[in-house]
Amino acid sequence: MRKHIVAGNWKMNTTLQEGIELAKNVNERISGKDVTVVLCTPFVHLTEVSQLITKDTLFLGAQNCADKESGAYTGEVSVAMIKSTGASYVIIGHSERRAYYGETNAILAEKVKLALNKELIPIFCIGEVLEEREVGKHFDVIKTQLDKGLFDLSSEEFGKLIIAYEPVWAIGTGKTASPEQAQEMHKVIRDHVHGKYGKQIAEDLSILYGGSCKPSNAAELFANPDVDGGLIGGASLQAEDFMGIVNAF
Ligand code: 13P
Repeated sequence: MRKHIVAGNWKMNTTLQEGIELAKNVNERISGKDVTVVLCTPFVHLTEVSQLITKDTLFLGAQNCADKESGAYTGEVSVAMIKSTGASYVIIGHSERRAYYGETNAILAEKVKLALNKELIPIFCIGEVLEEREVGKHFDVIKTQLDKGLFDLSSEEFGKLIIAYEPVWAIGTGKTASPEQAQEMHKVIRDHVHGKYGKQIAEDLSILYGGSCKPSNAAELFANPDVDGGLIGGASLQAEDFMGIVNAF
């Protein structure tokens, strides 16, 4: 069964103390609805936030992981470390990681494998930049990101992950994709997965939308048959806004 999921990507925001307050606020406001909520906090917050979660629909995630298992990689954080904090999700391939930290599809494919091996659920991000959409290449760009980042996985492995479609032109810009644009792309993604892994896996896959999603536009985005939730940046930093999006289902 396909799950409804709303994940907050806090990015590089909040001190530890601010993060604890925010997580407490979200935890308190969750009312046991049929939506899985994930807080993707900075690494240094994970252990503390893990202790304060009391709701069984609220989960914890990291925003990135190393592409190596362990060893002499100064400053990196492994999937085993993330798992040991109590986190169960990890964002992989966010466009900011691809653009600013040179993360290629090959590196991301490694990270996905490592995460799945440690039983972390990858939230794998894909999305086109504006110029690609303007010249009509957006569907091809997305398919290539899927082919190269994920399509080496077995059906069993693929069946465990989540995809987030985040058009880069909509991230942090206030310019949300229209419900029609989101539905169109989510359907292309599901059809492409269907072609590779078959109907059941495609039907069960949760595909989240990300990019200037707010309480005011979440309901119309989530009303689409192929939009199964959201990956929320800016609006996840205020408990009230974030819960407004969770409650948009
Ligand atoms: P905004 O919601 O701030 O546009 O960010 C979206 C995002 O990048 C989530 O990963």
